[in-house]
Amino acid sequence: MTKEYQIVLLPGDGIGPEVTDEAVLLLEALAAAYDFTLRFTTEVAGGAAIDQDNDPLPDRVVEACLAADAVLLGAVGGPKWDHHTGAMRPESGLLKLRKSLGAFANLRPVAVPDSLATASPLREAAVRGTDLLVVRELTGGIYFGEPRGRRGVGDEEEAWNTMRYSAGEVRRVARVAFEWARKRGGRVTSVDKANVLVVSQLWRDTVTALQGAEFPDVALEHMYVDNAAMQLVLNPRQFDVIVTGNLFGDILSDAAATLGGSLGLLPSASLGGKVGLFEPVHGSAPDIAGQGKANPIAALLSVAMMLDDLGESAAAAAARSGVEAALADGLRTGDLWREGLTRASTAELGARIREHALAAAG
Ligand code: IPM
Ligand code: MN
Repeated sequence: MTKEYQIVLLPGDGIGPEVTDEAVLLLEALAAAYDFTLRFTTEVAGGAAIDQDNDPLPDRVVEACLAADAVLLGAVGGPKWDHHTGAMRPESGLLKLRKSLGAFANLRPVAVPDSLATASPLREAAVRGTDLLVVRELTGGIYFGEPRGRRGVGDEEEAWNTMRYSAGEVRRVARVAFEWARKRGGRVTSVDKANVLVVSQLWRDTVTALQGAEFPDVALEHMYVDNAAMQLVLNPRQFDVIVTGNLFGDILSDAAATLGGSLGLLPSASLGGKVGLFEPVHGSAPDIAGQGKANPIAALLSVAMMLDDLGESAAAAAARSGVEAALADGLRTGDLWREGLTRASTAELGARIREHALAAAG
């Protein structure tokens, strides 16, 4: 009996639809090769949903996602909706989705293949061989903390957010990080600002206690976030698994994107609830939207993470080797192209990746 998976597609805004199209083509090719069936439904999210439903994530879309086996999101946001505030921003739709799915653990792997060791503005000697995993807490912290607000006028006008974590929230995301470290290099770096923030002191105490109680075989180190930002670009190979809160993880993962030379490479999986959410780390890039310039790799590697989560690990491995082989061929979208390499459109790079993935599937 062939397995069947229900996938909700949320192409979203900007380059989201283009990279989602490539993701679907790769998924369909791999489904045929590995003998499983995919049922896709497409829903609106972000700015597209504001335009259509006057709501960045209508409840029926949440329902559809909760009923699926996986959700693939392109990107949300853009200048068209920049004047929106609060719950009417496209980004609020994404935050609502993460929260509704209970996706508290956001995995953002950063691996630099040899073909990209010279793509970064950082020195090759520093970045070559980088292979790290950022585990970002995704449904708590300052992104969601209450109270939040804005009031007053003139010099008295003020605004506030709250960075709040419970020990339980810290423990569950730290557990994910330790478990990944066991499957990888056996080391966790917990990133916080415990020299200043009391919320970070709870974070640090909780992670330390968990390691002692459940993960004595995993090495744990703590690092302040300012130092972590520097260490990431100075000596990224020192890291195996990084676990951190929502805001620090957002910032550090963009910084880590410089290691491979482009934000267009980084995939993510948001797990912890019943249904996983898979999305490229990059945004909607409205400046290049609709021109076939977007790098599809982040979306295609997100597909690989989705396939792993669904239990289709052979198909996931084929997707990853397809990406590596197309890069080794020298194909690059504009974000990574330079003299001596072959410039490719979104669709051309996507097609080459599919070809190689199918060859790997045999
Ligand atoms: C990300 C993005 C989002 C975030 C935005 C679009 C809400 O920057 O996924 O990293 O801040 O989490
Ligand atoms: Mn971000």
